[in-house]
Amino acid sequence: MSHPDIVIVGSGLFGLTVAERCAEELGLRVLVLERRHHLGGNAYSERDPETGVEVHKYGAHLFHTSNERVWEYANRFTAFTDYRHKVFGKYQGQVYSLPLNLALINQFFGRSHTPDEARALIAEQASEFDTASATNLEEKAISLIGRPLYEAFIKGYTAKQWQTDPTELSADIITRLPVRYTFQNGWFSDTHEGLPVDGYTAWLTRMADHPNIEVRLETDFFDVAENYKGKVPIVYTGPVDEYFGSSEGRLSWRTVDLEESVVETDDFQGTGVVNYNDQDVPYTRIIEFKHFHPEREKTHLPGKSVIVHEYSRFAEEGDEPYYPVNTAEDRAKLLKYRELAQAEPMVLFGGRLGTYQYLDMHMAIGAALSMFDNKLKPHFTEGAELK
Ligand code: FAD
Ligand code: NA
Repeated sequence: MSHPDIVIVGSGLFGLTVAERCAEELGLRVLVLERRHHLGGNAYSERDPETGVEVHKYGAHLFHTSNERVWEYANRFTAFTDYRHKVFGKYQGQVYSLPLNLALINQFFGRSHTPDEARALIAEQASEFDTASATNLEEKAISLIGRPLYEAFIKGYTAKQWQTDPTELSADIITRLPVRYTFQNGWFSDTHEGLPVDGYTAWLTRMADHPNIEVRLETDFFDVAENYKGKVPIVYTGPVDEYFGSSEGRLSWRTVDLEESVVETDDFQGTGVVNYNDQDVPYTRIIEFKHFHPEREKTHLPGKSVIVHEYSRFAEEGDEPYYPVNTAEDRAKLLKYRELAQAEPMVLFGGRLGTYQYLDMHMAIGAALSMFDNKLKPHFTEGAELK
């Protein structure tokens, strides 16, 4: 495509949603530039050739949404299974059902509680600190759920996630720590939930499967930027600091090292996700991917399973940026980048990297649909200025 009407940098869910809308609804010629060897951004997955198990290459991705428009839109490209996500957590040789709920409380304290009894117990334990005057994450967490549950289920896990003792972390990293005084242990509470029936990559590929869309892989925008900057509208979903040559300093991210292995057993842990809460276990979670698709049992090689150990740490140069650290310093830099982005002619910044925000998939799709409605469509149909 030599003269696209619009260039999209990045083929994640944000970029693909914008691309699909521009091609399908406005008939524009869309060029998508992607520096990786595949499309789909972090939602990309591959079937492990040996075992047939679908592995999410950038960490486990579970789709859920209460946004009807996003649900309807996603269903144009894929059907979803009825998978309901559950998470279990190991601590000192026991396995508990998460999130914090009545089953966990009963098991942890070694006897049954009615919902009212459990509520009274946790309120009593939480009275050690006042939430409003908590000075760090540890005090805040104890003020919400009490010391025993904090020490078992928050302290070690949080310390590993942040490589920082929770007494050194800001209290506002957590706003709430909900405890369910029921046995309900579904991880999400959205209206819709499921996994794409034939995998993430099939879904993402169908979004781009349009005669007006060209996805150019292994192409870094910065190598070809001069062909497009100022000449054609650009939607940029890469890291905002990188766009401006990190002129205001680098924004900080956490990353996750994903160590994938094939184990010689049909079933390693009996469920998709187990958190490891003990601080002396170096990984935060183990994912066993076959459990996300029990309906595919016959396509999985018996006697083997694919697992991934996750290790969380601060991202360095060259690491995949996964979760914004969002220190006060980061927020100050971000404000400056937002001003620069606002002033950049004919370029819109979007997605999780372009806005330095953790976005679930449904949020990335929703934000992309809004950008299309509020900015791109008025520009292309009414000549509104692009900003
Ligand atoms: P991305 O998917 O990151 O896509 C950005 C793309 O831009 C990338 O492909 C990148 O290679 C490309 N790019 C960047 N710079 C350039 C450049 N200069 N030139 C060309 N291409 C470039 N969401 C859920 O709903 N459920 C989950 O369970 C879930 N789990 C997650 C787990 C992890 C570890 C992470 C990090 C995210 C998870 N998400 C989950 C969020 C989901 O990954 C995001 O919503 C989604 O990635 C957002 O899409 P995006 O298009 O904004 O960004
Ligand atoms: Na309290």
